[in-house]
Amino acid sequence: MHHVLTIAGSDSGGGAGIQADLKTFAAHGVYGTSAITAITAQNTERVSNVHVLPAAIVAAQIDAVASDIRIDAVKTGMLANAAIVEVVAAALTRWRLPHLVVDPVMVAKSGDHLLEPAAAAAIREVLLPLATIVTPNRPEAEVLAGHAVATLADAREAARRITDAGCRAVVIKGGHFEGTRLVNLLFDGRDFTEVVTERMQTRNTHGTGCTFAAALAAQLAKGRPLTDAVQDATEYVAGAIANAVSVGHGHGPVNHFWRGWTGG
Ligand SMILES: Nc1ncnc2c1ncn2[C@@H]1O[C@H](COP(=O)(O)OP(=O)(O)OP(=O)(O)O)[C@@H](O)[C@H]1O
Ligand SMILES: [Mg+2]
Repeated sequence: MHHVLTIAGSDSGGGAGIQADLKTFAAHGVYGTSAITAITAQNTERVSNVHVLPAAIVAAQIDAVASDIRIDAVKTGMLANAAIVEVVAAALTRWRLPHLVVDPVMVAKSGDHLLEPAAAAAIREVLLPLATIVTPNRPEAEVLAGHAVATLADAREAARRITDAGCRAVVIKGGHFEGTRLVNLLFDGRDFTEVVTERMQTRNTHGTGCTFAAALAAQLAKGRPLTDAVQDATEYVAGAIANAVSVGHGHGPVNHFWRGWTGG
């Protein structure tokens, strides 16, 4: 059994954050562990309140897990502020945890801010150098690269700038672009790979970003190469969207178990 750690926020609505990550891990047949950074009072429509936990309890959760359980990959999601980013980077270094997937969560689909603006610089400076892969969406790529990203050519330039921060690879997700063809653009520091899927017209995209990054972490834990992991995570999320069941009144969650329990 492979073991994966998610360091992220709780989504009470169950569709994103820690809850999406643990479901994704279970769906991939890997054992999920978690360090919670923040509690969001959230549903499919909005984030109504956020309680950010002290950095010390975030570090303590990682230490508790890593001192007992061999960890084969780590995923970070909502980190909320620079103090948490810093203790997470320190803990990952202390325990030498392998295969780090950084989902640089900044703003929720509902428009709510999940990261203090000043903490984006901390993500770039202390977390990206440790990352195997970072998974920004379009607005996050703009912040991390420091320029506008409107076209695929812009995304290529942004990918180069982001890998300058020291991560091994970056995938700029295509969810926030236009067009019937959705491109997840992977850059491994040398080559670009366009992983393409059909853009589905649906409201059931709550937690797609978390699910995508968690699926990547599960695949990397199993030793899959990066390109295969991005390809499979793209297919997994597409299937999870296509098979979504109706939950709530807003952006509904995806169906993490559309392939069954060990379908990853
Ligand atoms: N409409 C869609 N059709 C097919 N795949 C999609 C669609 N929306 C999202 N995806 C898949 O999910 C991935 C992540 O979605 P997105 O780009 O919206 O991330 P995000 O903005 O981080 O999401 P979140 O709001 O959950 O944080 C995409 O890269 C893509 O593979
Ligand atoms: Mg996201």
